[in-house]
Amino acid sequence: MNRRNFIKNSLITASVMALGAIVSKFVPLKINKENKMKILVITGSPRKNGNSNTLVDNFIKGATENGHNVVRFDSAFKNVHPCVACNKCGMDGDCVFNDDFNFIKENIVDSDMVVFATPMYYFGISAQLKAVIDRFYSINGKIHTPKKSALILTYADASASEAEPIKKHYEVLLNYLGWQDVGQIIASGVWTEGSVNNTDYPKQAHELGKSL
Ligand SMILES: Cc1cc2nc3c(=O)[nH]c(=O)nc-3n(C[C@H](O)[C@H](O)[C@H](O)COP(=O)(O)O)c2cc1C
Repeated sequence: MNRRNFIKNSLITASVMALGAIVSKFVPLKINKENKMKILVITGSPRKNGNSNTLVDNFIKGATENGHNVVRFDSAFKNVHPCVACNKCGMDGDCVFNDDFNFIKENIVDSDMVVFATPMYYFGISAQLKAVIDRFYSINGKIHTPKKSALILTYADASASEAEPIKKHYEVLLNYLGWQDVGQIIASGVWTEGSVNNTDYPKQAHELGKSL
């Protein structure tokens, strides 16, 4: 992309962001008559029965008990190519990769809520989830609309401060998109697959889903 287009795209993006910020301040979330939401859950763990997926199962149970419609995308079992910064999408267009990200593209715009679930990998989110979030770049022009959001994080250490970078990343992302945080399950001290079952976190995840 030449410099002129870059500036043009930046201006468009800035306008969309500004509009998103205004809209998120003044327009209530568009939820249907019965207050039932479409919730997109994006998971990042390659452990099918791992700790974050267990929390997600509990969250979904609570949300569906309340009548919400949940769609789930397990990044670790999908084909999502990392963004290569070719800029062909212009931040709001077709990506050069025709892969499983199409599911996100088809489901995120009309979702009322997006849930991010990830294990902590070297103090960050998993690469599988990050690849999906990076590809938001190609739909950036369509997702600065009011949505609820939640974070589910699992990690082995007991220190709360180690979760801060991921929490900050999530908060800055939401601020940029104009989305509203409605809950965070930060599950520390869970290392082996299934160890989260011996904690209170599954109940918390269920209650979060049920509270919506
Ligand atoms: C590659 C890798 C990196 C990890 N890095 C961290 C870390 O930085 N801090 C930590 O407390 N746990 C770390 N862990 C442990 C996982 O976060 C922990 O086992 C978590 O419960 C896994 O969630 P899951 O079962 O949903 O995959 C790491 C595990 C792996 C496999």
